[in-house]
Amino acid sequence: MLPELRSDHAGETGAVEIYRGIIALTRDPAVREFALHHLETERRHLEWMNRLLPAHERSRLLPVWRVAGWVTGALPALFGARAVFRTVDAVESFVDLHYTQQIDLLRDREQHAALRALLEACRADEIEHREDARARLGRPGLAGRAWAALVGAGSRGGVYLASRF
Ligand SMILES: [Fe+2]
Ligand SMILES: [Fe+2]
Repeated sequence: MLPELRSDHAGETGAVEIYRGIIALTRDPAVREFALHHLETERRHLEWMNRLLPAHERSRLLPVWRVAGWVTGALPALFGARAVFRTVDAVESFVDLHYTQQIDLLRDREQHAALRALLEACRADEIEHREDARARLGRPGLAGRAWAALVGAGSRGGVYLASRF
């Protein structure tokens, strides 16, 4: 479970930065409020992961995940509200699947009941984040779909690397 937890910790580190990046560059008060609200949840997730994973077990690439996260939030913030919501939709859709896989892995392992409950709590919050973003969006155009695909691929690559390094 250690590689998985390392990727979770890295992911929540990146998630905090995504919302910080949005807040740093957005000029839209509604986007700002949206990001502040989500940031609060991600900080709580990161606190949980910090408690779970001792410092020496964490990804050695944390500075990379911080920068990657910040850019993933800040860049769409330059393009406006729809780009931000599209990004959050893509990221949180990925995280939902990511946590679901781990929860399934722990399904019948009684000794990991507490960990499973924690991952389930995180997953429920991420779904809420995704739905919050989706509710503010219409149908995606070509650029929106391409960007969402890129964000999804970047997230997969991040998990692959963070679970190993
Ligand atoms: Fe999170
Ligand atoms: Fe989230």
